[in-house]
Amino acid sequence: MSIITETNDAADAHAAIVDAYRARTASSRAWHERATQSLVSGVSGSVRHFSPYPLSCVSGNGCTTVDVDDHTYIDCFLCGATLLLGHRHPNVMAAIADVATAGSLVLNPASATDVAEQLQRMVPSAERVRLVNSGTEAVLNALRFARAFTGRTKIVKFTGTYHGMDDQVLVGLDGRGTRLGNGIPPSAVADTVNADLDDLVGLADLLATGDVAAVLIDPSMHHCGLWAATADHYQTIAAMAATTGTLVIFDEVISGFRLAPGGGQEYFGVTPDLSVFGKALAAGEKLGAIVGRADVLAVADVSDRRSGPFAFQSGTCSDSTFAHAAALAAMTIYEQLGAQGAYAELGARANRLGDGIEQAFARHGIPCRTNRLGPIVRLFLTDGPFDRQHCSRLPSRPIDAFHLALITEGVLTLPGSNDLFLSFAHDDAAIDEVLAATERVLDRFDIAALLR
Ligand SMILES: Cc1ncc(COP(=O)(O)O)c(C=O)c1O
Repeated sequence: MSIITETNDAADAHAAIVDAYRARTASSRAWHERATQSLVSGVSGSVRHFSPYPLSCVSGNGCTTVDVDDHTYIDCFLCGATLLLGHRHPNVMAAIADVATAGSLVLNPASATDVAEQLQRMVPSAERVRLVNSGTEAVLNALRFARAFTGRTKIVKFTGTYHGMDDQVLVGLDGRGTRLGNGIPPSAVADTVNADLDDLVGLADLLATGDVAAVLIDPSMHHCGLWAATADHYQTIAAMAATTGTLVIFDEVISGFRLAPGGGQEYFGVTPDLSVFGKALAAGEKLGAIVGRADVLAVADVSDRRSGPFAFQSGTCSDSTFAHAAALAAMTIYEQLGAQGAYAELGARANRLGDGIEQAFARHGIPCRTNRLGPIVRLFLTDGPFDRQHCSRLPSRPIDAFHLALITEGVLTLPGSNDLFLSFAHDDAAIDEVLAATERVLDRFDIAALLR
């Protein structure tokens, strides 16, 4: 039974959650006041900031993390879904420690080849590999390679998807085709076309122009609410692209290693021309990868520049042996977990979490639906149509407040991101704890008032 202690007014309900957060996180607040004197808005990236001030954590272990006030949380943020093995997986830590004495940057280390060979073994499309530092770098280089290879200029992405920080893809994240923030000239996005993932006729028209170098797909459709298409749909897009000489690029920064050991392309049964990886690739160290067709990646081959197009790509810190060691250890574990059926188990845990959250909300008479894909769960506080169009227009304030309230009950999610990410370190007890925390939030705060 609900014990509602706040008024039914949305502003009061919101204020009660903020007060509870403030009461619990005095040291985070003090840290943030200090941090803002040096770091812009006190953080190292816009999404890490949330109101009234962000949480500061000091350590992590498995599926838990500890904040500066010494509270332990079930971590469902996982540093933006990077820690698919949880914090400090012993094999990853040992692999980094093993190489640490030799220094983190040496010239052309053999470990880069080890990583590339492991990617070739695991990822269906990986004929060749180029390593970089982040998902953003991987995306921008993949787009350059696609343009160099095809001699075309346009890129099609799908409305609502996020593909990193490069100017040309920071457009259409909101579903309206606007650029995200200032500082992005119209010319930077002039060759980026935002298409509707459901509209295959419209896509066919775009491809028929013969000017599209690549269709860029996040197979998880994560940013716009985890509204992934079916395998058939992606296969149809790949077939349409192939007949028009357009490349398909899978952005596997979210889906990679998370939906299956071979990523979204294994999960959906599509072999893209190029794919990009980041986040879980190195389980917390910084590494990105562009993988794909040997003939396409040959555009970056500096050993033979006498024929064919050439695309420049380089990065001072792309050969971190720490990152390589972590990636090798992590990918080896993903491969083993795949063979053991652990991906299905993790997906089942995410389903139990999604079902449990929906039931908890229903018991409190509050509309809530969840989307799940692999180990990711998204919440939508609505009883309207359960589709991408409707759900992408829901106001963010109520769901952000719910996530802030979860923090006050010991579950770390990120207000502003609306994700519950699970890792292989989240066992059944962790799911129980997240569900118990959800119940406590619904008992303690007037979440229904937030929707009024
Ligand atoms: C689908 C997708 N692509 C690319 C990126 C950019 O990766 P990074 O933050 O490592 O630059 C992200 C980051 O969240 C992402 O979700």
